[in-house]
Amino acid sequence: MQISLARQVALVTGASSGIGAGAARALADAGASVVLNYHSSAGPAQDLAREINANGGRAIAVGADVSKEQDIERLFAQTLEAFGTLDILVANSGLQKDAAAVDMSLEDWNTVIGTNLTGQFLCARAALRIFTRQGIRQGVSRAAGKIIHMSSVHQRIPWAGHINYAASKGGVDLLMQSLAQETSHQRIRINSIAPGAIRTAINRDATEGEQEQKLLELIPYGRVGDVEDVANAVVWLASDLSDYVVGTTLFIDGGMSLYPGFRGNG
Ligand code: BGC
Repeated sequence: MQISLARQVALVTGASSGIGAGAARALADAGASVVLNYHSSAGPAQDLAREINANGGRAIAVGADVSKEQDIERLFAQTLEAFGTLDILVANSGLQKDAAAVDMSLEDWNTVIGTNLTGQFLCARAALRIFTRQGIRQGVSRAAGKIIHMSSVHQRIPWAGHINYAASKGGVDLLMQSLAQETSHQRIRINSIAPGAIRTAINRDATEGEQEQKLLELIPYGRVGDVEDVANAVVWLASDLSDYVVGTTLFIDGGMSLYPGFRGNG
C-alpha cells in the first residue's frame, strides 16, 4: 500500500543527521512538504533540502535550538511563512552527555533535559497552537494534526551512566500521554516512537567492531536497526492509516525492550 501525505506539511527537528534526516527524507518521499530543523550543523540539512527539492519535493532548512523558546517561535513562524500550514510535527531532536551520576555536571544534566524534554514540550506547544487554530483540513487528513515524539527504549529500560538521558525519555513518555489525553477530543493525534539501537552517530561507538557483538546480545532479533526502520514508522504514524492510534508508544527495537537477559534465566 502506498502512503500519500500529499498537501501536508511536516516539521522535523534534529533533521541534519540520523533518525531525523531519515524521517524527513521518508516524509518527503510520501509527498509532504518538509521543514528540516537543524541546530549546529547547517550544511547537511541544507544539502538534504536541496536533494528533496531536486527530486521534485518541497523542503527548507531552518536553524533553531529547540531548548530556546524564542528559537521555537521563529522556527514555527518560518514554517507557516514558507508553507502556510503545519500538519505533522516530528519532535526528534535529542542528545546524550554520558557520565556516571557522581561525575555528572549540572550543566550536562540541564543540557540533556533542555533539548530532549523541554525541547519536546516547546515544539509540541507551538504545533498544538497551530492545530487547534486550523482544525481538520478536509480532504487532507482525518486528524487536525499529528505529533510524533522521538523517545527511546530508555523511557522504560533504566540506563546506568546515562541518568540524564533516561530521565528525559521517561519524561517524554508521560509528556506524550498527558498531551494526548488533553488534546485527543480535538482530533489531534499524539504518539511516540521508542527506537532501540539504530545505527547513527549518537551510538557509533556501541555499534562498530567488537562493541557491536556485545550490543547484539541485547537485541533478540539479531541486528542493529537502520534509520529506515524508524522512518517507515514515522510515515505510518503521520498518515491516516494509523488514524485510530492515539497516545501510544511504538517500540522499534528488535526486541531490546523484552529484557532478553531473562531468556533461560531468572
Ligand atoms: C540511544 C542509543 C542506544 C540505544 C539503545 C538510544 O536511545 O540514543 O545510544 O544505543 O538507545 O541502548
